Amino acid sequence: MADEALNQQSVQKALEDFPDPETGRGIGRLGQIHNIHIEDHKATVLLGLTTYSAPLWEKTKSELASHLRSSLPQLSDVAVNVEVHDRPAEKIGEIGLAAKAVIAVGSGKGGVGKSTIAAILAYGLKRAGARVGLMDADVYGPSIPHLIGTNQRPVVHENRIQPVVVDGLTVMSMGFLIPPGEAVVWRGPMLHGAITQFLRDTDWGNLDYLIIDMPPGTGDIALTLSQLLPLTGAVVVCTPQDVALLDAIKAIAMFGKVNIDVLGMVENMSHFICPECNARHDIFGSGGAKRKAAELNVPFLGEVPLNIAMRILGDEGKVGSSFDDEASRPYLDAIGLNLVKNLVSKHRQKPAMPSLSVLK
Ligand SMILES: Nc1ncnc2c1ncn2[C@@H]1O[C@H](COP(=O)(O)OP(=O)(O)OP(=O)(O)O)[C@@H](O)[C@H]1O
Ligand SMILES: [Mg+2]
Repeated sequence: MADEALNQQSVQKALEDFPDPETGRGIGRLGQIHNIHIEDHKATVLLGLTTYSAPLWEKTKSELASHLRSSLPQLSDVAVNVEVHDRPAEKIGEIGLAAKAVIAVGSGKGGVGKSTIAAILAYGLKRAGARVGLMDADVYGPSIPHLIGTNQRPVVHENRIQPVVVDGLTVMSMGFLIPPGEAVVWRGPMLHGAITQFLRDTDWGNLDYLIIDMPPGTGDIALTLSQLLPLTGAVVVCTPQDVALLDAIKAIAMFGKVNIDVLGMVENMSHFICPECNARHDIFGSGGAKRKAAELNVPFLGEVPLNIAMRILGDEGKVGSSFDDEASRPYLDAIGLNLVKNLVSKHRQKPAMPSLSVLK
């Protein structure tokens, strides 16, 4: 039997201003609450959320349940189910790409694990339930096809490139177009053309996240990207030792120069857990990136340990299976989760209305 004060209306009312994890607006007001059932002081609600916010669904469900319990103390139990509430991405400017967030993964230094971390981020977001594209912008040394284990060729259909789909990820790489081992000499304008084609002429579909694996070194590609579309921002990957950190600082400065926001830093190869004795070894030192991020006022997204299995899986084209290792999984999940948390809170901080100081 439903209590007088405990009914569908009171539950609905309590959720009016509970913030949607993507938009920050009240989910009750936006019609995202359905099927409220109350029985024996137990409430069940169906919550409509977007796939963009999929990495935050678990957190949102538990926050919503505790919010309901504290608003309606008669409730003894709350069960929250989620259904996908689609809110497709708007096309980005002239490029026509439909993605809610476009994130470049870069570093100042080569070989620190950018491509690996870009793939891990893409797999992590996809595993959570988001729609994810992975674009390999390293046209000189594309390594995404190798890491994800495919040599399929994209086909062209009605003048649009059909990207390769691997493990549910939509992927595009120069590696699909040139035979392995063959070198291509790129001139600046051709480079610009290739990246433009990847973004504009590829049927990416409707994406929540497009992750872009950047080449090492110079800012050419970053400049091209920043001219083509408003990037949501960049993730900078570095290893903990001082020499690598110096390069990461340069990368942050480079992104700043081309007006790309730095969304966070990831410390890769942060420590090594010996598979035999379980002891932790800080091969390159530890915590350096975290300290540097704090110094530079850049969010720290997390650390990814040096893991022999991850290197082997990368070489075998199964980098996505890194999530199967229980010791690594929490680290891998955390970087994607922290990235999305930061994106969402940034989005919410954006004033929807001009501030009073502007109107004065
Ligand atoms: N956390 C890790 N544990 C073990 N091996 C790793 C880890 N991260 C990356 N690697 C390995 O390090 C090597 C270099 O990684 P990756 O190709 O991702 O670096 P990169 O920064 O993209 O390189 P480049 O600058 O050439 O583009 C690969 O063999 C990869 O499998
Ligand atoms: Mg790379």
